[in-house]
Amino acid sequence: MFFSAAIVTLGLALFPFASATVHDVTVGGSAGNLTYTPEAIFASVGDQVVFHFQQKNHTATQSSFANPCGLKDGGFDTGFMPVPANQTDNFPTYTITVNDTNPIWVYCRQAANTAASHCGKGMVFAVNCGADGSANSFTAFKNAALAIGAGLAASATPVATAAYGGVTIPPAPSGVVATQTVTVQSSTWTTVYTSYPGSPAPTPASLEGTVHKIIVGGPGTLLFSPSNISAQPRDVVVFEFHQKNHTVTQSSFADPCRPLTNATTNVADGFDSGFFPVSDNTTEFPTWNFTVTDTAPVWAYCRQKTPSSHCGAGMVFAINAVESSPRNFSAFLSLAEQLNGTAAAANAPSSAAAPTSTSKSGAARVGAGALTVVLGALGVAAAML
Ligand SMILES: *[C@@H]1O[C@H](CO)[C@@H](O)[C@H](O)[C@H]1NC(C)=O
Ligand SMILES: *[C@@H]1O[C@H](CO)[C@@H](O)[C@H](O)[C@H]1NC(C)=O
Ligand SMILES: *[C@@H]1O[C@H](CO)[C@@H](O)[C@H](O)[C@H]1NC(C)=O
Ligand SMILES: *[C@@H]1O[C@H](CO)[C@@H](O)[C@H](O)[C@H]1NC(C)=O
Ligand SMILES: *[C@@H]1O[C@H](CO)[C@@H](O)[C@H](O)[C@H]1NC(C)=O
Ligand SMILES: *[C@@H]1O[C@H](CO)[C@@H](O)[C@H](O)[C@H]1NC(C)=O
Ligand SMILES: *[C@@H]1O[C@H](CO)[C@@H](O)[C@H](O)[C@H]1NC(C)=O
Ligand SMILES: *[C@@H]1O[C@H](CO)[C@@H](O)[C@H](O)[C@H]1NC(C)=O
Ligand SMILES: *[C@@H]1O[C@H](CO)[C@@H](O)[C@H](O)[C@H]1NC(C)=O
Ligand SMILES: *[C@@H]1O[C@H](CO)[C@@H](O)[C@H](O)[C@H]1NC(C)=O
Ligand SMILES: *[C@@H]1O[C@H](CO)[C@@H](O)[C@H](O)[C@H]1NC(C)=O
Repeated sequence: MFFSAAIVTLGLALFPFASATVHDVTVGGSAGNLTYTPEAIFASVGDQVVFHFQQKNHTATQSSFANPCGLKDGGFDTGFMPVPANQTDNFPTYTITVNDTNPIWVYCRQAANTAASHCGKGMVFAVNCGADGSANSFTAFKNAALAIGAGLAASATPVATAAYGGVTIPPAPSGVVATQTVTVQSSTWTTVYTSYPGSPAPTPASLEGTVHKIIVGGPGTLLFSPSNISAQPRDVVVFEFHQKNHTVTQSSFADPCRPLTNATTNVADGFDSGFFPVSDNTTEFPTWNFTVTDTAPVWAYCRQKTPSSHCGAGMVFAINAVESSPRNFSAFLSLAEQLNGTAAAANAPSSAAAPTSTSKSGAARVGAGALTVVLGALGVAAAML
């Protein structure tokens, strides 16, 4: 099917004056099959694609390669087209016009975000996808959709318990490692990232990425502010350490107040800024940077425990938490409080704070070398989440 479609496209290319073609696509069918037939086509600018909705209750909804089962911003959506089992003709149709040569990714949003998701069962369609074997081939797209389905099926099975404290935690979604070619301005590169239901696209806003500033602590505040952000690969998160003595340390959703570790070796392999003691009267605040390399959620906390656990007091932070999932930021925060919270979590005593000069050398210790090591570790860790 793929090859014959490619030949048709070539044929059209040889006859540039050929008029616009109408491509018919059958959606669903009496067999109850969850398919678009054909499932991938090649079309020229000006061609029309007509979806013929057969039995059951489907949609044709535009998504993106990065998030196969989610509505693309501004994308088209046919809405639900229920067709009873005994209807044999006059099927409803919906027509789209191909406006450019970019790929168009489509899914059925029936039973979205549940184990019965049609998209998660592979009900996807594409116009002008990459050739088989390329990063954005139809096979890669469909596999990403199936992986989302597998994750949804796994989520339907309860339950996990935290490593200590006997607290129940929502199950992990399963990510799929995806490879995508990204073009920003005039640069094109291939990126490997973890695609999740609801995770952002791996396309940075600019080549340099966006800078996100996070204020860590401050007089009387055990907080990262803002406490949760969404960020693209290449974005830089600048942690600006204010008063008291804090860290930003990578953890995991399921174990919010302990360092992220390699499950096999039990060795910590997430990032850790180390402690930044900042005196009460300072006006210069040291910073520590983290460069985002993935779209998978990143979870972090402050590991100060003197005089009481900052993490347990809610001093936690997340990048790209999926707000529509049970593993959203407020669930993470609440888990940290349940596991490590105490009735009274006061700040570290100000007498323990170091002079400003120590803070400056603290900032200086984050050299390019240290950052590279940290990022290397994150890449591996994120793939594992
Ligand atoms: C699905 O149903 C349609 C319409 O009945 C049919 O044309 C198509 O061949 C079916 N596909 C599969 C894989 O069964
Ligand atoms: C079609 O599916 C949608 C979404 O599940 C549902 O709201 C609607 O009631 C269904 N229509 C029929 C006629 O079953
Ligand atoms: C399909 O079945 C429903 C009830 O089962 C009936 O009301 C309807 O008239 C039937 N439609 C056709 C086209 O036979
Ligand atoms: C093509 O452009 C028209 C008009 O702007 C728009 O309504 C339609 O959704 C576009 N088609 C696709 C596939 O985006
Ligand atoms: C964990 O450590 C082992 C041994 O060093 C290594 O082979 C493996 O890739 C690591 N796993 C992750 C997810 O980092
Ligand atoms: C800040 O306060 C400490 C003691 O409270 C003092 O030793 C230090 O000189 C002060 N630093 C500045 C810049 O005022
Ligand atoms: C952190 O990133 C910001 C913005 O890109 C930059 O100005 C600053 O020099 C960086 N700081 C360190 C310690 O690398
Ligand atoms: C949270 O509690 C666990 C178990 O008591 C402990 O190992 C961990 O260090 C604590 N972390 C923080 C930041 O309080
Ligand atoms: C966020 O997580 C909490 C706890 O798991 C859950 O009760 C809530 O429904 C979640 N929010 C959404 C939008 O899913
Ligand atoms: C997540 O961040 C947003 C934006 O700063 C904020 O409005 C929201 O309250 C935060 N969520 C929680 C649970 O703190
Ligand atoms: C900062 O906190 C850490 C951990 O509690 C402690 O070891 C260190 O001495 C503190 N630094 C200062 C200057 O208070």
